[in-house]
Amino acid sequence: MRRPQQVTDSSLPERVTVYEVGPRDGLQNENAVVPLAVKAEFVHRLVGAGLPVVETTSFVHPKWVPQLADAADLLATLAAQGLPPDRAYPVLVPNERGLDRALEAGAQHVAIFASATETFARRNLNRGLDEQYAMVAPVVDRARAAGLDVRAYVSMCFGDPWEGDVPPAQVVAAGTRLLDLGASQLSLGDTIGVGTPGHVTALLGAFSAAGVGVDRLALHLHDTYGQALANVVAGLRAGITTFDASAGGLGGCPYAGSATGNLATEDLVWMLDGLGIATGVDLESLVATSTWMAGHLGRPSPSRVVRALA
Ligand code: HMG
Ligand code: MG
Repeated sequence: MRRPQQVTDSSLPERVTVYEVGPRDGLQNENAVVPLAVKAEFVHRLVGAGLPVVETTSFVHPKWVPQLADAADLLATLAAQGLPPDRAYPVLVPNERGLDRALEAGAQHVAIFASATETFARRNLNRGLDEQYAMVAPVVDRARAAGLDVRAYVSMCFGDPWEGDVPPAQVVAAGTRLLDLGASQLSLGDTIGVGTPGHVTALLGAFSAAGVGVDRLALHLHDTYGQALANVVAGLRAGITTFDASAGGLGGCPYAGSATGNLATEDLVWMLDGLGIATGVDLESLVATSTWMAGHLGRPSPSRVVRALA
């Protein structure tokens, strides 16, 4: 298989954690419900490709996201089949009811989510901006008391399809509130993929000025306008070492009309391989996984790297 020529840049981090969201962010947005056995194999293949973190599913209301209504069955299947213990398998949880379901299913890591904007909080969570914190606060408390790690996502960090521009100060206010609740990591979501590199630099600078270092932050980029990799480079330059990505570039948010696919994990890994930045991910098996999944979904992967290498 072709590989990028390695040319390192000593100003960038030496190692990066790729946080795989394909089974959750990818499959939540498919029109067709993917059979449980295919979802389970998808997770096993991603783990087999070396991904250290695989977000497997979500315990949101099954009427809101019917594509992932089988979350508990999927975790039971994965537990029965056995997964390597040295990786993390977070699940998305919106509220206490979701946490109850996740705990019952044996989840060890959870991810909560909130919005930087009022309109998306209402559309995605059926809550206002302040109400959303009231909804997730007990989730963080109870999950931590049960010994679980809690990640927090904040959406619409770079723009909102209904409200337009989103000032960095507004994102910092939302993000610090989630961190103050007790989340270990904050993932900054470019839900509709409108961000550009200077904007990434400015937002990370605003967090730094508020006392939140890059060690507590991750970038969650969608590639709607083709900016995701340029934004990764801006993140790397600022010292970010966790990047979310979705195998094959699947995904989007069903409650954000203009959201398309996530940054494809293959595109990210190709670039990081070229920069000599270690990820532990095997590009060849990842491409084979996304090609296999594209066969199940009945359409080619939108990832440029998958298309070039498959
Ligand atoms: P709601 O209708 O306001 O819920 O939805 P409620 O609290 O009023 O409860 C109504 C009923 O639903 C109750 O049942 C609850 O028990 C039940 P009843 O007493 O009437 O019989 N219920 C649940 N059942 C199962 N699981 C649950 C649950 N919660 C309540 N978890 C809610 C509020 C938050 C549940 C809903 O708005 C929801 O599920 N939203 C999730 C939408 C979603 O999944 N969006 C995509 C994920 S976010 C994303 O993709 C962005 C991200 O990738 C980052 C980025 O890109 O920016 C993370
Ligand atoms: Mg997303």
